[in-house]
Amino acid sequence: MTMILILAMLSITYSQKNTVICDIEEYFEFEQNENILDHTRINQTDIMLTNSNIYILNENLLVLNFFETPKFDGYECNKVITHPLKQIFLLACQSQTKENNSFLFAYQENGLNQYKIFGDAIYLPSVKENFEKMIMVGNSLLIPQINKILTFTTVISSTSWYLKSTPYIMDAQFLNISTLNITDFNIFSYVKDFQTYYRILISDYENGVYWIDGVQKSNNIVPYNSGKLNIRSFYIPNTARFKSAVILNASETNILFILQTYLEGSFLFEQSFTSGQLYLYSTLNKYKDWNPISSITNNQNAIFIPYQNIQKVVVINLFNIKSLKENEFKAEPNDLLISASIDNLILYFISENRLIFRSDVDALTRCTLMNYQEA
Ligand SMILES: *[C@@H]1O[C@H](CO)[C@@H](O)[C@H](O)[C@H]1NC(C)=O
Ligand SMILES: *[C@@H]1O[C@H](CO)[C@@H](O)[C@H](O)[C@H]1NC(C)=O
Ligand SMILES: *[C@@H]1O[C@H](CO)[C@@H](O)[C@H](O)[C@H]1NC(C)=O
Ligand SMILES: *[C@@H]1O[C@H](CO)[C@@H](O)[C@H](O)[C@H]1NC(C)=O
Ligand SMILES: *[C@@H]1O[C@H](CO)[C@@H](O)[C@H](O)[C@H]1NC(C)=O
Repeated sequence: MTMILILAMLSITYSQKNTVICDIEEYFEFEQNENILDHTRINQTDIMLTNSNIYILNENLLVLNFFETPKFDGYECNKVITHPLKQIFLLACQSQTKENNSFLFAYQENGLNQYKIFGDAIYLPSVKENFEKMIMVGNSLLIPQINKILTFTTVISSTSWYLKSTPYIMDAQFLNISTLNITDFNIFSYVKDFQTYYRILISDYENGVYWIDGVQKSNNIVPYNSGKLNIRSFYIPNTARFKSAVILNASETNILFILQTYLEGSFLFEQSFTSGQLYLYSTLNKYKDWNPISSITNNQNAIFIPYQNIQKVVVINLFNIKSLKENEFKAEPNDLLISASIDNLILYFISENRLIFRSDVDALTRCTLMNYQEA
């Protein structure tokens, strides 16, 4: 443990030589076996979820309040997400035995730094597998399963809420393919002629990337078109398997995205829908032979790709998007952020150039990006 702590401290010093300055590392007074699981941001405050509590943090990582999450035998409440249109956040509790459906609680503000459960616990109909991620756009909640992405509508009144299933299921039939093995999905919205559109990328373990176009109707997503990106025609070996596809920018005519493989690093691509061309900007090298974990995070200027070794130490490769687009075919990271041995990473932005990442089992670190210009 001591060794790892020293490593973590060295890393913070190391990154100070470069273009990331980390100024606060905050250790929390956790219970035994308490573990950080997820994060969301609501009304300018940060919500940190552990396996036993919800913490409300300010930008200096001070705990403003905390309260216990509900406990149910065989369940872990392990995901939080903020509703983009209402002042509530959802907490997902998933069956660890996988016998029962997952369910959601809604939390609403109840005084300064106070939140209380709002309405009933709502079961997720037809969600059979545990999920690593959920995404909300407008009133729509998207939940991935191995072979499909389900879309629900959240209906919220002043005293209660519920979920409505929708016919919009993004599966092999919708994509007009024979099989689908989803490893991750990502969504990006853009506005054209006062109308909000969505572009979704789905990474498939063996087959690469599918895109879906959606449009916003009464604050709900309606998918209407799809296709496959021809990434195999590039320098990606046939043996490559795909972990995620992350959208950096999208418009009606193009999409800029990172495609992450398990073994061969990641690739920065741009697809033009007008010419039908896929352009490879650069290959983002891995950190040694470590395994990619968690998910890729980005802001306008930088991309963060985390890797983990067998001792569970995490190193995050940071890339500057601008330099990736300009001249680097095979890119080494601009900076590294290093964490002690942890099960899963959390990383989020509190402003354009400030981020927080999990630097230990019971600690978060705040850093500022210097010299990462607009891409
Ligand atoms: C959000 O935060 C502001 C300022 O901290 C506070 O006045 C307000 O009551 C909060 N809640 C909502 C629902 O906006
Ligand atoms: C989970 O399912 C089992 C068997 O169907 C049932 O006995 C149990 O009450 C369920 N638990 C919850 C929390 O719904
Ligand atoms: C679905 O795929 C098949 C085989 O690739 C093709 O012949 C057919 O035109 C496709 N259907 C649609 C609606 O795109
Ligand atoms: C589906 O993807 C998972 C990784 O998410 C992989 O472990 C599994 O082998 C894949 N299944 C098939 C049939 O390719
Ligand atoms: C995203 O794409 C749009 C349309 O091509 C462009 O106007 C905008 O500048 C891009 N944003 C970034 C951050 O690259």
